[in-house]
Amino acid sequence: MTDNTSPPSSLRLKFCGLDFASPIVLLSGCVGFGEEYTRIQGFSNRDAGAVVLKGTTLAPRLGNPPHRVYETPAGMLNAIGLQNPGAEHVVRRILPALDFSETRFIANVSGSTVEEYAEVTRLFDQSPIDAIEINISCPNVKEGGVAFGNYPDMSAQVVEACRRVTKKPLITKLSPNQTDIRENARRCIEAGTDALAVINTMMGMAIDARSRRPIIGNIQGGLSGPAIKPIALLKVHQVYDVAKPHGIPIIGQGGITTATDAVEFLIAGATAVGIGTALFYDPFVCKKVNDGIAEYLRESGLGSVAALVGTLRSGKEVQDVPVSG
Ligand SMILES: Cc1cc2nc3c(=O)[nH]c(=O)nc-3n(C[C@H](O)[C@H](O)[C@H](O)COP(=O)(O)O)c2cc1C
Repeated sequence: MTDNTSPPSSLRLKFCGLDFASPIVLLSGCVGFGEEYTRIQGFSNRDAGAVVLKGTTLAPRLGNPPHRVYETPAGMLNAIGLQNPGAEHVVRRILPALDFSETRFIANVSGSTVEEYAEVTRLFDQSPIDAIEINISCPNVKEGGVAFGNYPDMSAQVVEACRRVTKKPLITKLSPNQTDIRENARRCIEAGTDALAVINTMMGMAIDARSRRPIIGNIQGGLSGPAIKPIALLKVHQVYDVAKPHGIPIIGQGGITTATDAVEFLIAGATAVGIGTALFYDPFVCKKVNDGIAEYLRESGLGSVAALVGTLRSGKEVQDVPVSG
C-alpha cells in the first residue's frame, strides 16, 4: 500500500540520470508552474516522478482571446496561446518557491525563433531546474510553433541550438501533426536530445451550429484527453523503434486516465508516462495510477517499472502463448 507521502518503491526509476519516485510526469499546461495543485488538500507533488511547468517564452505572453478551452466527447480542445510571465520571472520568482525535495521539476520552453528557444534554455540552464523540455509542437502559436515541430530540419535546428547552451537533460516534445514522426525523432536524437516526449495535442476545431462561428477564439486548438490515446500509443510505438537503439527514453502521453492506460504506454516503449487532462476531472488520479501500476507489476511478477518498458509482444509471440489450459 502507498503511504501518504511516497509511491510504492517498485515504481522508482532513473530518467536521464534523474531519480523519479514514480513513472508519472504531470504535463505542461495542466499544473501551472508546479504549485497550482498543491493548494488542493490531499494532492502532493510527491506522487509524481516529475512535474513539467507551463510553457515559457522569453517575453511575457497574455495568450489567446477566449474561448480558450472547450470540452469535446472524450477530451478537450485548448488554445491557451502560451500565456506565461516570461522566462526571467519564472527563474527569479517562481522557481525559488518550489520545493525540490518533493519531485523533479522540468521547464517547458517555447519560442518563435531558434534564438529565442536557445535564450530561454540558457536562462533555465542557470537555474536549479532538473531538466528542460523543448516544446516544438505547440499548435497554438502562429509565429512558428507549428513549423518547428512539423519539419524535421527545423526541429533539429532548435534541438542543436538548445543543446549548445545546456548540459541539463534535454527532452524534445514531438508533434503528432506531422507526416513521419519517426524521421523527426531520429533527427532530434542526432541533434543531441536526451529524451523524447510523445505526443503533444492533435489539432482540431469546434463550431457553434447556431451562430456558425468557431467556438475557440483562435479557431483551432489542441485536442487532448482519452480521444487521442490510440494515436498516442501508436506514435510511442513508432518512436520507440527509433529511440531504443540509442537508449533514448520516452515520456509517453496522450489521454492517460487509468493505471491500465499507463501500463499500455510502458509496454509500447515509454519509460515514463504523462498525465495532463485527466487531472482536470480527478486531481487525485496520480495515487490511483501509482497503486494500479504497482499492482500490475506484482501480479506480473515484475520487480520494477523498467522491466515492463517495451515488452510489447509481436503477433507471432502472442500466438505462441497458450490461450487456455
Ligand atoms: C490546457 C492545456 C495547456 C497545455 N499547455 C502546454 C504547454 O504550455 N506546453 C506543452 O508542451 N504542452 C502543453 N499542453 C499539452 C500537454 O502537456 C499534453 O502533452 C497533452 O495535453 C496530452 O496529454 P493529456 O491527454 O494527458 O492531456 C497543454 C495541454 C492542455 C490541455
